[in-house]
Amino acid sequence: MIIKTKQFVLRPYRMSDADDLAKKINDWRIIRNLALQIFPYKKSDALIFLKKTLPNYKIKNPGSLVLGIEIDGKIAGSVGLHKIEPGHQAEIGYWLAPVYWGNGIMTNVVKKTTAYGFKKFKLKRIYAKVFIYNPGSKIVLEKNGFKLEGILKKAAKKKGKFIDEYLLAKVK
Ligand SMILES: CC(C)(COP(=O)(O)OP(=O)(O)OC[C@H]1O[C@@H](n2cnc3c(N)ncnc32)[C@H](O)[C@@H]1OP(=O)(O)O)[C@@H](O)C(=O)NCCC(=O)NCCS
Repeated sequence: MIIKTKQFVLRPYRMSDADDLAKKINDWRIIRNLALQIFPYKKSDALIFLKKTLPNYKIKNPGSLVLGIEIDGKIAGSVGLHKIEPGHQAEIGYWLAPVYWGNGIMTNVVKKTTAYGFKKFKLKRIYAKVFIYNPGSKIVLEKNGFKLEGILKKAAKKKGKFIDEYLLAKVK
């Protein structure tokens, strides 16, 4: 599945994205906000991720579907639907390289990805968990019609610290 807009292209990853992917995601400003526990993130980590991710493009009902956000011909970020239960629900997650922040890109990426997910997997609910210190991500979701359902106390753990998370969902 490929979605083209003026700002970005959403497309399946390729093994040849490993270098760009590792370079872009290996930034604490990104990883501090993700469940991902790997930092620093190396090309070998990207290769492991890609080997796991690529087969899912060929499966009718994959457990997760992760797409690259391509800007100027290179990977600039990622968006994924995880824990997909066809006919029911999935979790959305995403990141974007800081150089592109604040231009409305992720708001649009989430719009396109949720529309695709609701249709393709006949979902009733897409939810997201956002670390309590990440207001930008919560705003991205709220602009897309996600509603705050609660705060999950100490639900995430990062560098030995427990983090409260917002739970937001969009329901059809
Ligand atoms: C969160 C993230 C995806 C946002 O991407 P983006 O393309 O900059 O998002 P957008 O430009 O579409 O929208 C961000 C909104 O949040 C607002 N915002 C950003 N940081 C903020 C802050 N610290 N306080 C308040 N608002 C903030 C922006 O002003 C913008 O709202 P506006 O359009 O009304 O001005 C990006 O910062 C990122 O990748 N962060 C690291 C990884 C991450 O947090 N992933 C999500 C995990 S749940």
